[in-house]
Amino acid sequence: MHTIRDSKNSLFFIVVPLGFEDVAQTELRHRLNALSYSVADIKQSKGGLELELPLDIGLILNHLLRIPTRVLLRLEKFRCRDFPKLYKKTQNFPWTPFLLGKMPKIHVTAKKSRMLHTGRIEESISKGLQDYFKAYPPSKALLAQGDSTLPPPDLYVDFYDDHCQWSLNTSGEPLYFRSMKVQRYVLQAPIRENLAAALLALFLQQNKLNDKPVLIDPMGGSGVFLSEAWAINHPLDRPFAYQYFKKNLSRPLPKLNNEFLFSHTIYRDIDPKALAAARHNLAPLIEHHLLDSSTGDLFQSPAMTRLQTLPPTLLIVNPPYGVRLSMGPITLLQLLIALIERYTPTLMGLIIPKDWCQGAEWGRASKFAKSKSYRVVLTRPFQNGGLEVVFVIWEHTL
Ligand SMILES: C[S@@+](CC[C@H](N)C(=O)[O-])C[C@H]1O[C@@H](n2cnc3c(N)ncnc32)[C@H](O)[C@@H]1O
Repeated sequence: MHTIRDSKNSLFFIVVPLGFEDVAQTELRHRLNALSYSVADIKQSKGGLELELPLDIGLILNHLLRIPTRVLLRLEKFRCRDFPKLYKKTQNFPWTPFLLGKMPKIHVTAKKSRMLHTGRIEESISKGLQDYFKAYPPSKALLAQGDSTLPPPDLYVDFYDDHCQWSLNTSGEPLYFRSMKVQRYVLQAPIRENLAAALLALFLQQNKLNDKPVLIDPMGGSGVFLSEAWAINHPLDRPFAYQYFKKNLSRPLPKLNNEFLFSHTIYRDIDPKALAAARHNLAPLIEHHLLDSSTGDLFQSPAMTRLQTLPPTLLIVNPPYGVRLSMGPITLLQLLIALIERYTPTLMGLIIPKDWCQGAEWGRASKFAKSKSYRVVLTRPFQNGGLEVVFVIWEHTL
């Protein structure tokens, strides 16, 4: 079965974080809109979105999507139960336009199949590729279309149910690497950028007020939420693996409406080192006079003035768990008291451990939230750094 459909369309599989397939699909549709392209069918599965697109449109998505981890180009899927067939298939597939005669890094997985020996699978494909490259060297014209300073994109080989699927990783480094790593200051326990983008998207979907909101992170660390808020409508500025075979796409990056979605932002953290890192990472917000940043202890600092937090105010926070404060281990109730007393946000999104969402502690926190006219409008479980957590959004109902 060929998965490159016709001369116009290619099949793409966009890998997205588990539990965020819906917001990733909404983002994808927005971006396709900006590219004046619409698709009826997006197949949503656990951790991925599959759709057919013209090759250049699929590749351009690398620059524009904030929630996915990578964009895979599906090359071929075929039934395969023996090595001679795998070799033959490899030797006969038209690889030149993508690999330009160079051996890619090969990643193999094999499940529920007769062929399970990943080392032998890789060997067979390498041999097939070598023989193919000998028989079909790339033309000069084809080589000139790519950027030879980059390595070829990685080839993923996935065996499942006696079917072999070949995919190219057109992104290269995962898309949550927003720019060259050296440019970013990182502290312990930051949330991954694409997860922060997904949470912000969910959060913004809940905002029903028309005025531009203030965005607050009272335990901001290296500033991931605020930098993602800034970056929502900016294309990624970094290289992608596809540029190895196509350095110039047939269409330009679309002009996104990159008006900032918030009136301004407020950053606090108890740690001066975190503040210094955040101020480095949030330089564009500082440059545009959109950031109010300082050190501050959430449990000690005075309440914000009304002017600083004129509604709508959106507060998002990834608090430290299991940390002991002077009054003992931090609890959900203490967090809610501190956040509501200091900020009275219109919407409040917290990442909390799964076990905080049940039992007596949840009961106490809910009772307090209700007494202050807050109600839960969304709960979204996901994994953060291997930990089961839930993103909970409360809305102020007055
Ligand atoms: C898990 S980190 C999250 C940081 C940020 N959201 C991110 O993803 O990069 C928690 C942050 O809370 C800060 N913090 C701990 N106790 C605090 C307090 N009492 N007031 C303000 N910030 C605090 C820590 O310094 C740390 O930077």
